Amino acid sequence: MSHYQCSTRNVSAWEMTTKLPEPAALADGLEADVCVVGGGIAGITTAYLLARKGKSVVLLDRGPLFGGETKHTTAHLSCVIDDGFALVEKIHGPEGARLAAESHAAAINRIGEIVRDESIDCDFERLDAFLFPADGDDGAVLDKELAAARRAGLEVEKLAAAPLAMPSPPACLHFGGQAQFHPLNYLNGLLARCEALGVKCFSHTAVVEVEGGPMATVTTDAGHRIRCAAAVVATNSPVNERFAIHTKAYPYRTFAIGALVPHGGIRRALYWDTAEPYHYVRCQDWSHAAPGHDLVIIGGEDHKTGHHDDAPERYARLERWARQTFPAIGNVVCRWTGQVLETLDGLAYIGREPTGEENVYVATGDSGMGMTHGTIAGILISDLIVGRANPWEELYDPSRKPIRSLGGFMAENLDVAAQYRKLVSPGDVGSVAEIPAGSGAIVRSGMKKEAVYRDKEGAIHRMSAVCPHLGCIVAWNSATGSWDCPCHGSRFDCRGEVLTGPAVSGLEPK
Ligand code: FES
Repeated sequence: MSHYQCSTRNVSAWEMTTKLPEPAALADGLEADVCVVGGGIAGITTAYLLARKGKSVVLLDRGPLFGGETKHTTAHLSCVIDDGFALVEKIHGPEGARLAAESHAAAINRIGEIVRDESIDCDFERLDAFLFPADGDDGAVLDKELAAARRAGLEVEKLAAAPLAMPSPPACLHFGGQAQFHPLNYLNGLLARCEALGVKCFSHTAVVEVEGGPMATVTTDAGHRIRCAAAVVATNSPVNERFAIHTKAYPYRTFAIGALVPHGGIRRALYWDTAEPYHYVRCQDWSHAAPGHDLVIIGGEDHKTGHHDDAPERYARLERWARQTFPAIGNVVCRWTGQVLETLDGLAYIGREPTGEENVYVATGDSGMGMTHGTIAGILISDLIVGRANPWEELYDPSRKPIRSLGGFMAENLDVAAQYRKLVSPGDVGSVAEIPAGSGAIVRSGMKKEAVYRDKEGAIHRMSAVCPHLGCIVAWNSATGSWDCPCHGSRFDCRGEVLTGPAVSGLEPK
């Protein structure tokens, strides 16, 4: 057994074995056919497919490439919509549900083709998936989902017992043709191909403005401009506009742990249950890091961003559930948390910028299916840019207003409105003296609120607690040592620098 037995690292499974690439920062203005903002799976796939179509492409990211939410994925490659086909069918009708299934299946196929054609070593494998009822669920959800998934065109069957090593396993749905891979190894391979095709990639280059027009302009925080025939904003949350998408995309945090299991101890497959929030599990060969072992990744325990700061309890609940459901698992070697941007209908927003900015495209709202949605974004946006018709354009149109999900729209935006009441509520602590070293808290200072961080040496760092995006009060996240905004998911490091948008400037220092 390897040294992993001894300790649990607060890092995603992928980062334990793969380094994030950090090409140089942009040092000057440029011109290109296309400028892609965001170096996650959506941005890299878009850049790759456009370069294959003969376009000159520039790709920028605020940090290292894949260093946003892409590195936090658990990388299920599935055409089974997380929020369920029953919901998608209710909102978009049977044809919409069919197109959703078709597009995610096409994304898995496209990843498989890229892996094969570009000889990318990333453990891509096809496997089965199983959806089983949560404790106390009578199984009616399964029957409803079985019927809706079949109408959407999926090959799905109901099995009398899920393949779980527990007494009396419940019935489950069985889906064939799903897949998994090592996401960072896949993206490193794709990045190498992008560079070979002439894509110019820059890290540590934050974008502060994207303007549409006959020639779009992307401006960085260093003042460099990229003039391009098309700009693609493929950041987790769009940094180029204020309202059109942010009123219908909602940030949640999700949690994951990785545990070793003797090779073959758990059937390699994708697993989900019907809990609310649901658990999601996958298992992959980990012998390169721990000889003779697989890594089981268990996720769940989601909550709205900025609403709780109790990661240790959530990791503990995940582990408890995992040991009950998969008794073969051994030591937990890693744990991490990431942000998911949920939409009203479980489908991403991909396509033309909804405010009508000419030649600007957007991909956001991963809805917990970032790997397939990111790949769909690459296919769809590259088609739109070269003027090729795509049957998924209307389904993913960022300007869509799914009126059948009005209830969800109201509930989520009432919650955002409630966040503004925190402008006048008391702080987390009564005084700065109560903040332990290496931690942060919101402190009231007269009429204002401050985000106060005490570093490990005891020095105090004070910032405005008001998010520069649209003025909500940020919350301390002790699991990541960051300030997270509950309204639209901007995140700032402990000293107030932007980690992820939509904010493009940091918390104001005091
Ligand atoms: Fe919009 Fe903070 S992210 S107000």
